[in-house]
Amino acid sequence: PLVYEWSGISSLETRLTKHFKIQKVIIVPGNNDVEPSVKILMGTEAANELERLANSQKNVAVTGGSTISSIAESLTPTKKLSQLQFIAARGSIGEEMQLQANTIASIFATKTGGTYRTLYLPEHLSENAYSAMMKEPIVKEMMDLYEQTDIVIHGIGSAEEMAVRRKSSPEDLQALQNCGAVSEAFGYYFDETGNAVHRIRTVGIQLEQVGKCQSILAVAGGTSKAKAILSYFKNAAPQTILITDLGAAEEMIQLL
Ligand code: BG6
Repeated sequence: PLVYEWSGISSLETRLTKHFKIQKVIIVPGNNDVEPSVKILMGTEAANELERLANSQKNVAVTGGSTISSIAESLTPTKKLSQLQFIAARGSIGEEMQLQANTIASIFATKTGGTYRTLYLPEHLSENAYSAMMKEPIVKEMMDLYEQTDIVIHGIGSAEEMAVRRKSSPEDLQALQNCGAVSEAFGYYFDETGNAVHRIRTVGIQLEQVGKCQSILAVAGGTSKAKAILSYFKNAAPQTILITDLGAAEEMIQLL
């Protein structure tokens, strides 16, 4: 039965890779919604992929979230990983400390022996504050790093859950519903056709910069995220590798 399960998984991986037109899909057994330990399995796969991709000094932008945070458990100070510089993909401090991109970037650096760059800014900036910030040398430096990012590691969330977690106002929640937001990744909200319909006004990596990166690792699992993952992958960059679980993968196949 185990052999059967594994061969079932590999055919699901092939199907989804072709459907999304991306580089690779890796599926771990289990369903993150019911067994949160599945995050560790996804994290191990992500750490292995990172080891494979890290062949010289590289800038790696990382987002926040509990899934990306779980990768830390599988990171070790290998020769290749210790050359990496981890950058917080967004300067936000909206989420719980342990789940913020800044915290995760510094933990990844500690675990691998690499270096890190962080940026602490409020989650929702007013238009004036945002344009003022963009002129600050420290923000400009970060923007330059985003331009030189080689690898992005990011989570995917359901739009509604992320808006609630980020304590968005009722007006913002309504606005997201009105524009049909289904998924969220690195501060962008996407509708069911994969178009970015909203962006949080904060300093962070831009969608175009993610698209230009050499490699992208998207890590998200659990049946409840299937719709969000499908929405994001309607339009994802071809160099993306999706690491997910069987719970999400089986639900996605049902929804295709
Ligand atoms: C957020 C990231 O912190 O975590 C998002 O900025 C991502 O891009 C989200 O969608 C996913 O969180 P989790 O906890 O479900 O992995």
